[in-house]
Amino acid sequence: MSQMVDLVIFGGTGDLSTRKLLPALYQLHRDKLAGRLRRIIATGRSDMDSATFCADAEANLVRFLPEGDWDESVWASFSERLVYARIEASQSDDYQRLAAVLDQGGAPGRLFYLATLPSLYGAICQQLQSAGSVNAASRVVLEKPLGHDLASCRQINEEVSAVFDEEAIFRIDHYLGKETVQNLLALRFGNPLFHPMWNNTFISNVQITVAEDIGVAGRGSYYADTGALRDMVQNHLLQVLSLVAMEPPASLKATDIRDEKMKVLRCLEPITTANAKERTVRGRYSAGAVSGTAVKGFLEEDAFHDADNTETFVALKASINNWRWAGVPFYLRTGKRLARSYSEIVIEYRRQPFSLFANDPQELTNKLVVHLQPEESISLHTVNKKPGLTSRLRLKPVELHLTDDSQEKHSSYDAYERLLLDALHGDQTLFMRRDEVETAWRWIDSIIEAWDENGTPVKPYNAGTMGPNAATALVAVDGRSWHE
Ligand code: BG6
Repeated sequence: MSQMVDLVIFGGTGDLSTRKLLPALYQLHRDKLAGRLRRIIATGRSDMDSATFCADAEANLVRFLPEGDWDESVWASFSERLVYARIEASQSDDYQRLAAVLDQGGAPGRLFYLATLPSLYGAICQQLQSAGSVNAASRVVLEKPLGHDLASCRQINEEVSAVFDEEAIFRIDHYLGKETVQNLLALRFGNPLFHPMWNNTFISNVQITVAEDIGVAGRGSYYADTGALRDMVQNHLLQVLSLVAMEPPASLKATDIRDEKMKVLRCLEPITTANAKERTVRGRYSAGAVSGTAVKGFLEEDAFHDADNTETFVALKASINNWRWAGVPFYLRTGKRLARSYSEIVIEYRRQPFSLFANDPQELTNKLVVHLQPEESISLHTVNKKPGLTSRLRLKPVELHLTDDSQEKHSSYDAYERLLLDALHGDQTLFMRRDEVETAWRWIDSIIEAWDENGTPVKPYNAGTMGPNAATALVAVDGRSWHE
């Protein structure tokens, strides 16, 4: 698709579009990176014209752009690209009208971004096709969640594949657009220093934490049906895990990287009724205080249906059964209303076989910590000599920081700038292939089945803590603790 592209956003007035997509597009426009993009056609169910949509978009951009990024003159030229089209998902007349908009002096390339209820994805693709809007240069971006389980995910994939080839389908996982997640490839495969030690001979365990201090207010009904395992682990945490664990790819091309990630997912040992009790912890926040502010518990936030079986926290111990990782636990944890918001990957190295030093506490292990957010940096935890004239050599921890200061100039970019740009250019590397998503669902389904069969309880934790005590116990039985 080296020609100009019209971007059509389904769900153009929704939360994702307002908070993430339009701000990201504005930034790409400002930085002259969206040369290939002609118009942004936002669609929604509200009956309004483009001028009204633009007025709303302007107010929202002022609100959601990073501080200092709003600029009247950028907005003036950006808003010329914005068009609004009213579409009721099931009304074929509406799609005919959209087809007319697309045909009127439009660009040859078309990128359809689906950010509606996933159960509508198949029908939207069908309608677009029937209205003649899908051409050989069309692509479709699918927002998560891609289904609720393997069966519903397959159904969506089948329906979308009936209209678009796999090469034209871009399944978003916005974690793959984060700068430091991509930096994992550079870290692992650009530094011969780390590569020889990236295996079970040297690494004792890997921890992946995605902690959030926010609750679920505003999206409670979605969340009550979903829970942390489906919302975060099925996609973001498993994608990060597969990038950490994959073999060196044959090249940096999308197929080669996705092939290697896929092999990792296939090697994940199933968590079943037999082992789920020792390997998983579910939690749900009760009232507490986050950064000194009192907050309600999950069940008090809204009138959720059947939410007393919803987890807002999950911790688990995954095993990757292959030569590189056999015997190395991958501990994953994520939750809402935790003490603070941060995401990190911790690679903990084995201890030396014998210690020569007067003090050598257990916690002084070498760790490589990849901080994904809020700050983007990598640090290597090492030990050094404790200074002074002591009679015996003593150790003290020292952190080496691998932070590229020049990254700061991109710090106002969120993951969506990168992903939108890649979709416009047709690069699928940072998007999930069908087999990856389905394999991840198969693994998640097995855990949910085990929870149902075992009647696994959802343990309470106070908002503002790091989850239920059972999460501490999950790693403590292996003689470990979470990196804090
Ligand atoms: C989304 C989840 O995919 O990721 C949300 O649905 C979560 O529940 C969000 O809050 C976290 O993304 P980020 O980029 O803020 O870490």
